[in-house]
Amino acid sequence: MDTLAAAPDPDHLARRVREMIDNGQLNAARAVLAAVRRLSPPGPATAELAARLAIAAGQSDVAAAELDAAVAADPGHAGLRRLRADVRHRRGEHVPAAIDAAEAVVLDPHDASGKAILGVLMTELGRPADAVACLAEAVAAEPANPAYVEALAAAQAAGGATDLAAETLAAGIARCLGRVDLRNAAVLLAIRRRDFAAAEALAEAARRAGIADACLFGLLGHALSCLGRHADAADAYDAALKLGPHDPYVRHLVAAAGTLPGGDRAPSPYVRAVFEGYANRFEPHLVALGYRVPGLFRAALLRLAPWNATGEGAGPTLDLGCGTGLAGLALHDLPIRPLHGVDLAPRMLAQAAAKGIYASLREADILAVLAEPGPDYGLILAADVLCYFGALDPVLQAAFARMRPGGLMLVSTESPAPDEPDPPPWRLGPQGRFVHTAAYLRTEAEAAGFAVRCLAAETQRFENDAPVPGLLGILARP
Ligand SMILES: C[S@@+](CC[C@H](N)C(=O)[O-])C[C@H]1O[C@@H](n2cnc3c(N)ncnc32)[C@H](O)[C@@H]1O
Repeated sequence: MDTLAAAPDPDHLARRVREMIDNGQLNAARAVLAAVRRLSPPGPATAELAARLAIAAGQSDVAAAELDAAVAADPGHAGLRRLRADVRHRRGEHVPAAIDAAEAVVLDPHDASGKAILGVLMTELGRPADAVACLAEAVAAEPANPAYVEALAAAQAAGGATDLAAETLAAGIARCLGRVDLRNAAVLLAIRRRDFAAAEALAEAARRAGIADACLFGLLGHALSCLGRHADAADAYDAALKLGPHDPYVRHLVAAAGTLPGGDRAPSPYVRAVFEGYANRFEPHLVALGYRVPGLFRAALLRLAPWNATGEGAGPTLDLGCGTGLAGLALHDLPIRPLHGVDLAPRMLAQAAAKGIYASLREADILAVLAEPGPDYGLILAADVLCYFGALDPVLQAAFARMRPGGLMLVSTESPAPDEPDPPPWRLGPQGRFVHTAAYLRTEAEAAGFAVRCLAAETQRFENDAPVPGLLGILARP
């Protein structure tokens, strides 16, 4: 006898798609989603699935298009708004993302996830008080959600309430005992407060509880090395390396401690991770450290007035590792426009964008941008960024190639301690930054084709009340 196949149930298939996405079976999910689309009329649920699949496949533009169409058809759907806020956030579109998240909260005031997304966006948009208000509600609704707890602590820290942030993390750790991410956040916060003894205590507590990963040991190593306990730090870095032998963040920290032979530059994932975590506190911290490089660049440009030679402006200008735009801010009223910026860290770039002084900002590696064909620059800035490169020849040669004759490159570098006998041309320091000798910078600049117009010893900033020695270099393409 013939058996009748049961008609496929679209809801069941949609559940299967969700499971497949969660398990990383993206091709299978795509095929089943196509069946769901054939069986049921278009609607928010299918659009949400398609967007989630695109997100998992790294296709944020496909996800955005899917959600734009779905929101246009159903603007009052809170779930679609929330998901589009998330996608826009990933794409660095902070303001539209915040508008969607706020809309989602209005549409569904009892949903904690909308408030959490809105809170994270408020932190990134530099509104920590609003962020704390949203995230406190999200945590009150779901006190054991570690992501909400971590985001609330980050918002509190961004607003300067670091004691409160530490308390929030401690309460979160007590509620979510097995979560290493909260432990790491607490250790990192203590390091940022320069309370290295507290950082060590927190990391040791996590280690004793058996909740520790490569990152935790890496942070412990950093805290111990800041306490001057270099042998203990080396042990912690060893443990970090065993747990995360290929983690670029850990490898760079370990290399900085001198346990591993280092590479000739800081790996991009390391730089991105450091500055993504640092973006919200970067400017107040550098101001507190008396960061001098933007002011030195401004004084150098006013002295040289390169715009007099051209009769036009000195630009276009490329700001390498522009970060939050501090160098751009110090110079943008001079005739150096248009000003373009490049940086690896999206959160640093978001703050640079908020200043409204850059004609363009790109998330990319400096060497990749300099290697592109394109217009020649009249001015290239490298403020406090060459310290993420050991060997300087690739950057200097690539910058020379992108500079028009008569153009200038302003650079800052960190130097070995003045009393260090016979320092190597460059080496990685314990804080993960490279130091360079003046002789090395001059040799590589001249080898690239530059005329060295000035190479002056200049304090870069102050740490623990001591000057950080460095150089201001003015390089010209003849
Ligand atoms: C210490 S901050 C300096 C920021 C800015 N130039 C200033 O003076 O305030 C260093 C910046 O360089 C960026 N950076 C480091 N290495 C980079 C690379 N290879 N490509 C692009 N950006 C890089 C970091 O993401 C960070 O934002």
